[in-house]
Amino acid sequence: MKRTILFLLGFSWFSICQVLADEPISVSSPSKTITLSFQMSSLGEPMYEAKYKNKPVIISSHLGLEIEGFNLKDELRITDTQRKNIDEQWNPVWGEEKTIRNRCEELTIKLKQTISPEREMNIVFRVFDDGIGFRYEFPEQAALKNFIVTKEITEFSLTGNHKAFWIPGNYDANAYPYTISRLSEVNAWKLAKIPGYIPVINDPDQNTVQTPLLLKTDEGLYINIHEAALLNYPAMLLHIEKDDYKLTANLVPDAFGNKAYLRTPFHTPWRTIIVGDKATDIIASRIILNLNEPSKIKDTSWIKPLKFIGVWWEMITGNSTWSYANSLSDVDSNGKLKPSGKHGANTANVKRYIDFASKHGINNFLAEGWNTGWEEWYGYWKEDIFDFITPYPDFDIEEIASYAKSKKVSLLMHHETSGSVTNYERQMDTAYRMMKHYEYPFVKTGHVGRIIPRGEHHDGQWMVNYYSRVAQKTADYKIMVDMHEVVRPTGLQRTYPNWLACESGRGNEVNGFTREGTAPSHETILPFTRLVGGPMDFTPGLFKLRNYNEAGFSVHTTLAKQLALYVVFYSPVQMLADLPENYEKKPDAFEFLKEVPVEWDKTLYLDAEPGEFLMTARQQKDSENWYVGAITNENSRSLDISLSFLDKGKNYIATIYSDAIDASWKDNPEAYTIKKMKVTAKTNLKIKLADGGGVAISIKPE
Ligand code: NOJ
Repeated sequence: MKRTILFLLGFSWFSICQVLADEPISVSSPSKTITLSFQMSSLGEPMYEAKYKNKPVIISSHLGLEIEGFNLKDELRITDTQRKNIDEQWNPVWGEEKTIRNRCEELTIKLKQTISPEREMNIVFRVFDDGIGFRYEFPEQAALKNFIVTKEITEFSLTGNHKAFWIPGNYDANAYPYTISRLSEVNAWKLAKIPGYIPVINDPDQNTVQTPLLLKTDEGLYINIHEAALLNYPAMLLHIEKDDYKLTANLVPDAFGNKAYLRTPFHTPWRTIIVGDKATDIIASRIILNLNEPSKIKDTSWIKPLKFIGVWWEMITGNSTWSYANSLSDVDSNGKLKPSGKHGANTANVKRYIDFASKHGINNFLAEGWNTGWEEWYGYWKEDIFDFITPYPDFDIEEIASYAKSKKVSLLMHHETSGSVTNYERQMDTAYRMMKHYEYPFVKTGHVGRIIPRGEHHDGQWMVNYYSRVAQKTADYKIMVDMHEVVRPTGLQRTYPNWLACESGRGNEVNGFTREGTAPSHETILPFTRLVGGPMDFTPGLFKLRNYNEAGFSVHTTLAKQLALYVVFYSPVQMLADLPENYEKKPDAFEFLKEVPVEWDKTLYLDAEPGEFLMTARQQKDSENWYVGAITNENSRSLDISLSFLDKGKNYIATIYSDAIDASWKDNPEAYTIKKMKVTAKTNLKIKLADGGGVAISIKPE
């Protein structure tokens, strides 16, 4: 409050709370939308502020780090500044559009300590029209060689008690539902107690949240705070100082409590602040990708976005199992494991899925639970349980591989490590060679549970390094990868375009193993939070939405919303998550899943409000076809969808998959209607979405 009054009176918070030594150094974005000011305090502390269209977004905030034995946060002076204009275009290997423009103004502040041994550090800012990125650079120097970061003190001081869309801080888990509250009301521990939601909060600070964090100010500004290019450094959580609405970096520690082990020359990931006065500005921003390095992979011709089905949902819902036997002690008189009779990935069942995939032109099929080890995969914390080359006795890999090939279906690999990543790394080359032998182009990895043996955290530096090693190693073998239970993405898909997606968030699967499932608003928040960093393997496309397991669980969306998710959630890898028999019962709705593309030339975010609704249109790659998806939260609503993005003067046929008039996620989730109609660029569709509902539309030239 105090601050707001000062601003109204025309004061800068810089001048009120800090005695500042030098004149501010400012840099504005190319169209002058955003201005960043940097200034040193009289104590030699680096500080910054940022304004969007002249409105303060970040006020007087400290920058710097604490290092074991010394610090790089004060007693600094500016030795030089450098400015650079960047304006370039690049074409992603895959993505939401064909071409991305990287346009910003760069300001580098070179700093030296005023005390001996005068260590040097640079702070580099890049100011875009829709946000800011900044990072710390440590040049090679005699007085700074190997060092340990004990704390990053980066601050994001906000102008008020904004509305936050948050999940609790955790070093190992991110599959939380979102809470919408004022910053002052964040209470991460309270959420941890909700049954069915991950109970472990390993960060003792109840005021810490994860990024990407979405904020909305009372004046209607949307702010997203995250990071880009997370390499060789821990992930950043944000601690909230509730008295003055200040967020401070809280780096995920290693097993000993240290944050990062570094060696000069080095630079940290970029800290990112995306700002806009429309919610859609946040999702249209490409600053996270622009702050990542170009592809390290020269020949990317083998990287192809894909859709797939798999032996998966039947296990997630408890209707079959990953494991072959009930337990390792369940053996016959010859000491051989006795089959439990519930194993999902058996040859006959696998062939059934392959037949279905082939019949419907899905082209890719994943079998989980094909390899030995699953009897003790969870909760045993054993190091060597998984073997990534030995199939279970009832998974005839030779026969399955040749059967799939004859049906023109690619097999997708699954490697669950159950947290034992050293075991995985030891076997990687052998496992990837075996994949090449059987022509698997893609692997889904998993890291369920504690990281063993040392108890590193999923989001700490040690694991961050492991993820990039996997991205690189799979690239060396020309294998695409989708990582589950890993740190949330930070745009590294630009550098490693074979790294198609991560889970790293609360996907559809939670509906398979908890009664609570996920609130209908969840999918309307994800694009503004988790998806800002990169694609998610969300596993949409559930058709049987109630009583799919013995416990009688239900998904909290309608069927039309499940279809719409293929358009509103961008991902180059999309699972058709349900069982063949459930798709076969609704062949007309299944047509949409068969045809919806995974490659796009253009994306338009038509309208959105986080937590409420979202409407997206995308043009298929190398095609004149368009697809529109819209979703809502627990409230039904009517949306006006203008098709003015279509070519003027051209006639199209739209196929509209919408909620039936009596549909509702709670009482009648599977009721849908399909309507075909002629449309042009002048058409305005008025579409009613049921509570928890959605609409999916394909639009093709007549
Ligand atoms: C959790 C993953 O999210 C899920 O997709 C996978 O099937 C299981 N772990 C087993 O790896």
